[in-house]
Amino acid sequence: MDRRSGRSEARRRNWRGAALAGGMGLLAACERGPQSALHPAGRNAEAILDLTLILVAGGGVIFLFVMALAGYAVIARPERFPGSRAWIIGGGLVFPIVTLTALQVYEFAVARQLSDTGGVEPLRIEVTGYMWWWEVRYPDVRVEGGEVLRTANRLVIPAGRPVEVVVTAADVIHSFWVPSLGGKMDMIPGHENRLILVGERPGTYRGQCAEYCGAQHALMAFDVVVEPPDRFEDWLAAERRPAAEPDGPQQAAGRDAFLRAGCGSCHTVRGTPANGAAGPDLTHVGGRGALAAGTLPNTPEALAGWIAGAQHIKPENRMPSFPILGGDDLHAIAVWLESLK
Ligand code: CUA
Repeated sequence: MDRRSGRSEARRRNWRGAALAGGMGLLAACERGPQSALHPAGRNAEAILDLTLILVAGGGVIFLFVMALAGYAVIARPERFPGSRAWIIGGGLVFPIVTLTALQVYEFAVARQLSDTGGVEPLRIEVTGYMWWWEVRYPDVRVEGGEVLRTANRLVIPAGRPVEVVVTAADVIHSFWVPSLGGKMDMIPGHENRLILVGERPGTYRGQCAEYCGAQHALMAFDVVVEPPDRFEDWLAAERRPAAEPDGPQQAAGRDAFLRAGCGSCHTVRGTPANGAAGPDLTHVGGRGALAAGTLPNTPEALAGWIAGAQHIKPENRMPSFPILGGDDLHAIAVWLESLK
């Protein structure tokens, strides 16, 4: 970064910091978390934050001015308030036309910027919303065996490279939103929408369904992991491989119990006969940050609890509870699945 762009960057941060601290004292109390539009981790989220601050600050100034005028109009004698016609034309017509036009032009410019990849070929990822989880496909990445790479509830993306996320839905309308990285996009059955995400700061960011989609809408979250480009390539290489062979008798028993219980009719675990497509692909489920779309931590205990009582934990989701599985089978399945990194 040269000195000049460094200075303008610092100025930008300064005014943004001042606006945050001053005008939005309430919001500034929000904690810096993995899901915050106030702490952008990429240029698109920054542009959206700037737009928001300008609209809030501009709206606030206009509101205060109008309130002050209204107060003055109430207490002042009529002869002290001359030129009412000029006020009506100036304040009621000219001022809104000028400010709203300027804001609209700025907003168009931001919208244009949000869909601009700067000439860089974006990484394509397709995300489909289900009640209540996210299927994630990398259409340009083939796994060993030739199919498209498919995973769930987690997008891993390279830092700095724009990602074109193509979103749709399988059942009802959902909405894809990662506040720290970009805007919000509706996921509509039978229709594809696109949005560009850019993650510049490596880290794990949380996304959330932003359109009420039924009883478990609140339990429909996902992670976006921004990795440095070389670590992203490592992740891709690992993800393309089939599930590891069971290490030891307990894991082998877990795999057998998984297949015996019929889990493979809904779930795929590449490298085993399980090839169902109705539920999340579990080939590398042990490497994900959470279970059941952000509902539970990814541990063997939580996974066993989820298998035994999915309908208790997240009622009406498509995964039945399996209370009939014995404790040993349940534990072995959980240990085996957790070994699939
Ligand atoms: Cu999906 Cu709300």
